[in-house]
Parts: sequence; structure tokens; C-alpha cells
Amino acid sequence: MSKQKVLITGASTGFGNITAKLLAENGHTVYATMRDVNGKNKPHKEALLDWAKAEQANIKVVELDVTSDQSVENAKEQILTDTNGSMDVIINNAGIYGGGIQEAFTVNDHKALFEVNVFGTVRINNAFLPTLRKQKSGLIIQISSILGRVIIPFGGVYDATKWTVEALSENLAYELKPLGIDVAIVQPGPFLTDLVNKLYQPENLSIVNEYGKSAEYLKQFSQNFINTVSDPNIPNKPEQVADAILKLVETQNGTRPLRTVVDKLMGGVTEIINDTSSNVQAGLLQNFGLSELNSNNSEIINN
Ligand SMILES: NC(=O)c1ccc[n+]([C@@H]2O[C@H](COP(=O)([O-])OP(=O)(O)OC[C@H]3O[C@@H](n4cnc5c(N)ncnc54)[C@H](OP(=O)(O)O)[C@@H]3O)[C@@H](O)[C@H]2O)c1
Repeated sequence: MSKQKVLITGASTGFGNITAKLLAENGHTVYATMRDVNGKNKPHKEALLDWAKAEQANIKVVELDVTSDQSVENAKEQILTDTNGSMDVIINNAGIYGGGIQEAFTVNDHKALFEVNVFGTVRINNAFLPTLRKQKSGLIIQISSILGRVIIPFGGVYDATKWTVEALSENLAYELKPLGIDVAIVQPGPFLTDLVNKLYQPENLSIVNEYGKSAEYLKQFSQNFINTVSDPNIPNKPEQVADAILKLVETQNGTRPLRTVVDKLMGGVTEIINDTSSNVQAGLLQNFGLSELNSNNSEIINN
């Protein structure tokens, strides 16, 4: 496969940062986007550029806040000018986590989480789809979560954002298949990244004091989660997510799995739901005479 031009969002830390490096190490040209590159993310920008220089890897850092139409537009212009109007791979990775008692999340809190995790991906996809459609090729990778498939109590509004990402991504996959564009959904399990250090705090946090036994379960669950992801022997390593993304990027167009689970902790529950859903969808599409839109629903299972 030829070397790809890749845009990734949220490349300051976590999966985005590791993936940007892995893709560039493998010869791809990476537009590693992050917000606030001249402010709080300046050290991350400089570290990434220093690394790229030392490794002679092709990484360009571009300012991009996925919540801002103007920021997406500016980044698009800058990147497409640099690539003479082409782009091969879009990776929607930027995300924030907000867990806890659901009632603590006001409407504004719901909007804030959806703004990044859902509308952020819509902004990016709508900005770059005209380019991919013109090329009649391309790949959109959507970083979802196993929490896009199951509900673990106290997932707050985060679970709802990732379920929405799943729905929008699968729909997009069907519509884009005849146009030669792949959509691949990546579903990581729990990993230690900066996500837990940047928890979104809902406006009505004090409501938790009125939740009695549920508040106790929340406390216990939060502690267990932190203990699990902080355990140095945890089998889930963020590099596995980057490896799965690299594999998707380097797989031939039209043959990529729709969903890729990256997890060694959850005992395969997501795979069961994915398999069931895949069978149901195949039947549904057949009933509507739309079987040709069916994406390859088989999954890579990483455990
Ligand atoms: N870690 C896990 O266990 C896990 C599991 C399943 C799915 N995921 C998903 O994986 C993706 C990456 O998360 P991570 O675990 O690597 O956490 P992370 O280290 O916190 O990375 C999240 C990235 O998103 C960026 N971001 C947040 N708001 C943004 C905005 N408005 N515009 C542009 N970028 C923004 C962050 O930038 P700033 O530094 O500027 O905030 C950061 O670069 C997320 O979509 C997350 O939901 C994570």
C-alpha cells in the first residue's frame, strides 16, 4: 500500500499522540492536529516536532479545536493547501470523558460532551468528505469505545456520546461504501491515558450527596476503575490502539472490518454485541434490497 496522508484529531496526548508517531514511523505523512498549540498544548506540539525531527518522520502539527467551525475550516485550508487538495485518512480521535450521576449533568453539560465527542467528528467529516468523494477513495476512522456498545453504570453522558458515534459511523459506512470510502470504528476498552486526568466536571455535582446507596456504588466503581487502569500489569496498553489503527490504515480499501475491538479486559462482551448486530444488520439490509451497502462487518478481536 502506498504511503498515506493522514489527519488525526486530539494528537496532544494519549492514543492520538502515540498513533501520530506510529503512523509517521511507518512512512505516512501525519497532520497531527491539536487545539491551543500556542498555549497549553505548546509543550506537546514542540515535543512531537522534536521527536519527528530526530526520527526524520513526517509530522506536521496543525491547530484544530473540534468544537469550532472556524478552527476546522482554517485547519482544512492549511492542510489541503499543503497536500495539493488531497487527503487519504481521517482519524476522529479527540474526546473527553464525563462520568458520574446522570442528574448532575445539566443540559449544558450534555451539550459540552456531545460538542466534542459527536459534533466534533461531524464537523471534521463534513469538512473533508468533499475531498474524499472527489478522490473516490479514503478512510474515516472513528474512535468510539466499548462504552459505545454497553452501559456500565455511572458512565454519565459519555456512553450516550459514544452510542451516537456508533450510529452515525455505521450509517456513514453504508452511504460511503458505493463511493469507495471506508469507515472503520475502533472500540477500545479501558486504558490509562490522560483522559482520566481531564475529567469533565458536571455543573450539578453536589446532587451526588442525595443519591445514597447509588453514590456509594459510584465511589466504589470509580476507585475500582482507577485501580484497574493504574495497575502497571494491566494487559491493555495504549500502543495496542495505535497498532490497530495502523493495521486499518494499511489494509486495502474495501476490505477493512467495520468494527475493531481493542481490549483484553472485558471478556469479549463487545464482540458478542458486534456479531449479533452485524447479523441483524445484514438481514435488515437484505430485506430492503440494500445488501450491496453492507460493509465487511467481521471484526479483529485482540484477545
Ligand atoms: N482511555 C480510554 O480508556 C478510552 C477508552 C475508549 C475510548 N477512548 C477514546 O479515545 C479517544 C482518545 O482519548 P485518550 O484516552 O487518548 O485520552 P486523552 O489522552 O485525554 O486524549 C484526548 C485528546 O482529545 C483532545 N481534545 C479534547 N477536546 C478537544 C477539542 N475540543 N478539540 C480538539 N481536541 C480535543 C485532547 O486535547 P487537550 O489536551 O487539548 O485536552 C487530547 O489530545 C477519545 O475519543 C476517548 O473517548 C478512550
